[in-house]
Amino acid sequence: MEGRMRQESNSDRTVAHYLGDTPPEVFRKQLHQLADWIADFRENLGNIRVAPNDKPGAIRGALPAQPPENAESFDKILSDIDRLIVPGMVHWSHPMFLGYFGWTQTGPGILGEIATAPLNVNAMTWRTSPAATELETLVVDWVRQWMGLPEEFGGVVYDTASVGVMHALAVAREEAAPSTRKLGLTGRDLPIFRVYASDQAHSSAEKAAIALGLGEENVQRVPSDAEFRMDVAALRKMIERDLAQKFKPLAVVATVGTTSTASVDPVPEIGKICREHKIWLHVDGAYGGGFAILPEYQWITKGWGNADSIVINPHKTLFVPLDFSILFVRDLERLRRVFTLVPEYLRGDTIDAEKNYMDYGIQLGRRFRALKAWVIWRSLGRAGMADRLRDQMRLTSLLVDWIKSDQRFELAAPVVMPVVCFRFVGNDQSNSEIVERINASGQAYLTQTKLRGRTVMRIGLGNVLTTEDHLRRAWELIQKAAG
Ligand SMILES: Cc1ncc(COP(=O)(O)O)c(C=O)c1O
Repeated sequence: MEGRMRQESNSDRTVAHYLGDTPPEVFRKQLHQLADWIADFRENLGNIRVAPNDKPGAIRGALPAQPPENAESFDKILSDIDRLIVPGMVHWSHPMFLGYFGWTQTGPGILGEIATAPLNVNAMTWRTSPAATELETLVVDWVRQWMGLPEEFGGVVYDTASVGVMHALAVAREEAAPSTRKLGLTGRDLPIFRVYASDQAHSSAEKAAIALGLGEENVQRVPSDAEFRMDVAALRKMIERDLAQKFKPLAVVATVGTTSTASVDPVPEIGKICREHKIWLHVDGAYGGGFAILPEYQWITKGWGNADSIVINPHKTLFVPLDFSILFVRDLERLRRVFTLVPEYLRGDTIDAEKNYMDYGIQLGRRFRALKAWVIWRSLGRAGMADRLRDQMRLTSLLVDWIKSDQRFELAAPVVMPVVCFRFVGNDQSNSEIVERINASGQAYLTQTKLRGRTVMRIGLGNVLTTEDHLRRAWELIQKAAG
C-alpha cells in the first residue's frame, strides 16, 4: 500500500496513520461505495419518511459532542450518515416534498456536484481558475439568452438571491450617493433612502437594507392588488409622499414569482415609474424567472429590458442543485466599480485576465458553481427542462381541479406557476393543524402561509420524482386530515 506511514502510541494502542491523502486504491473503493450509496438513496427515497418528527436536539444528542481525536473509518462515518443523519433530515428531494418551491435535484445535478468536488478550485480570478471563470461567463450568458435579456446585461453567480439583491442595492446606493464605497453613509448629510417592494415580496429586501446601512424600516411595503401583484398606483403615491417628505427613493424591487403565491408584479408599469424618477429597478425573479424558458411564459419577462438588475435562482426552477443564483446587471461594469479591490498579494494574478469574478462582490473565495450548471443544462437541454416545468404545470392543474371539486376547500390565490395556495373552509387553526399533522406523519410535506391575514395551505411542485400518484396521495392525506 502506498502512502507515508507514521506510528503513534497512546496509552492502550499503536495507531497507524497515513500521512498525505487516502491511498488511491482505498479511495477508489470508497468512491464506489459512495456511488452505490447515492444510487440506493436516490432509488429508495420515495420509501422513507419525508421529514422526521424529532424534538430539537435529538440528532445532536445521538452524536458524540467531543471532536474526534483519532481517525475513523469511512465505513463507520457512512453508516452514521445512514443511521443518524438521513432519518434526521427533511428530504427536499423526496417525491412527497411539496413545500416551498419543490426542489431541483436530479441525477445529472448530483453528478455535476460530484465532479466539482475533486477540482475544488477557487474561482476568484481568471488566472487562478481560467476554466471556472470562463465557464461561469458562458453559463450566465446561456441564462441571459434563455431569459431573452439584451446583451448589455452581464451576470455573476452568487450563492443566493438574498446576496444578489444586496449587491444590486449596493450599486443603486453608490449611484445615488457617489463615493459611498469610499466614505460610507454617515456624517455626509445624505438623504434617507427608500426602497419599495410589495407586501408579498421576499424579506431579502429588508436583509439587504440591514446589511447596507439603509435601515430595515426604509424598505416600504407597497400594498398588493386582489391577485397579490404590486399595486402600481399605490407605489406612485408612496414615492410622491416620500419625495414631499424629503426621502430619496432609491430602488423598487418588483417580484416575478412571489414566495407565497408566485404572483407576478407589473414590471413594465413599475419600470415606467422608475424611469420617471430615476429609481433603480431590481427584478426579483428568484423563483419565477426560470419559467421564461417556456414560450408560454414569455409574458413574465415584459419590462425586464428596462431593469437595472435581475436575480434568477436556477436552484429554484432550472434544476441546478443548491446553491446557484445569478445577478444580472445592465452594464455589469457598474457592479465591478463598486466592488473591485485588488490587494497587493493578488495583483500578479489579476493581470491579463478575461474577468476576475472577485471584483463583482464581497466574496473573494468563490466555489466553482458553474460546473454543475453546465452539466445539468447540457444533460437536460432547454427542451428537457421545459418538458419538466410543463409537467409541473399539468400536475398543478390537476390539484386545482381536485380542490375545486371538494366543497370543503377553496383556492386562496390565482395559480400562475406550480404553487397552489388553498384553504380548508374553517378557521386558521384548522388549516394549520392539517399541515402540522401531515408533516408530522412523515408521509408528505407541505407548508402554510398567511394571505390577507388568513392562514392558508400551500403546495409547491417542482421535484422531478413527484408523479400524479404522489400528488393524489398527498391530496387524499389532506382530505383525510380535514375530515
Ligand atoms: C421571491 C424570492 N426571492 C428571494 C428569495 C431568497 O432566495 P435565496 O434563498 O436564494 O436567498 C426567495 C426564497 O424563497 C424567494 O422566494
